[in-house]
Amino acid sequence: MKNFQGKVAVITGGASGFGREFALKAHALGMKLVLGDVQQDALDATTAELRGLGAQVAALRCDVRQSADVQALADAAMREFGAVHLVFNNAGVGFGGLLWEASEADWDWVMGVNVSGVVHGVRIFTPLMLECAKRDPAYEGHIVNTSSMAGVLCPPVMGVYNVSKHAVVALTESLYHDLALVQAPIGASVLCPFFVPTGIHQSHRNRPQDMPMAGRPTASQMAAQSMVSKAVTSGKVSAQDVAELTFAAIAEERFYIFTHPQALDGVAQRARDMVAQTNPADPYAATPQVRDALRAML
Ligand SMILES: NC(=O)c1ccc[n+]([C@@H]2O[C@H](COP(=O)([O-])OP(=O)(O)OC[C@H]3O[C@@H](n4cnc5c(N)ncnc54)[C@H](O)[C@@H]3O)[C@@H](O)[C@H]2O)c1
Repeated sequence: MKNFQGKVAVITGGASGFGREFALKAHALGMKLVLGDVQQDALDATTAELRGLGAQVAALRCDVRQSADVQALADAAMREFGAVHLVFNNAGVGFGGLLWEASEADWDWVMGVNVSGVVHGVRIFTPLMLECAKRDPAYEGHIVNTSSMAGVLCPPVMGVYNVSKHAVVALTESLYHDLALVQAPIGASVLCPFFVPTGIHQSHRNRPQDMPMAGRPTASQMAAQSMVSKAVTSGKVSAQDVAELTFAAIAEERFYIFTHPQALDGVAQRARDMVAQTNPADPYAATPQVRDALRAML
């Protein structure tokens, strides 16, 4: 997708972090916006900020776990702006701790937002975009799904999140191949950020009341929370940088968007381990002090 002016972008998780920056960048490129987010106060603030900049914005409270809420975003886009060109299935939540200590509710929440949310977005928006393409011979579209480095690596004490983000990589790569098979004028990219300062380390703020924590967090869950908070808040690449990289990738029709290429050494090691059929390499080989600190907290 090369031409953004006057086109329509839909962004889930549009109130904060990457979603807010995608919205600001899309507006700067002349796009009309449809924002969905489960956090109403943040959505109101971001919408007001964008309108203050002159943006045309439709904003809806939307829980991406619910297909009807995602359908409502699509309906709003068609009603307000008559087409959809660019979709960011971006809403997501973080969760850490030893894999077997996650409760059924923990799994349901994280998989509901991070996986079902993206599934609903792909299932609802792709046919709609194909319809838009039929009506417009010059149509160009693109779908960006937000995964993570946790979609291509399996760091310890992040198992639930790792599983959810691996699903997003598989889903998006499958989407890419299916779109190419039918020669659709729609591209697909998967965004895999490493640690970037946003609200992701405070995801529990939006945990739904029907899926409460089973009790007090375990030692491993507190350790993971503390390590992730530190890593996220000290990240040197900004959410704005990530939005710039993402729009450049969309314009170049690039599938993989990695915000921290230095972290790809771990991916290369993993691929070598698979091909050689050796056991997964020690993730702390270069930083044993991190493993020691983590063990001390468990
Ligand atoms: N920041 C990082 O370091 C990092 C790294 C890798 C991947 N990611 C991914 O980036 C994406 C965006 O997160 P962010 O870092 O901008 O964090 P963020 O918390 O600032 O933004 C996430 C947004 O999603 C919204 N949200 C949460 N649950 C929702 C739901 N059920 N329905 C709709 N909206 C919901 C939140 O209200 C928030 O506005 C997520 O998918 C996250 O997993 C972030």
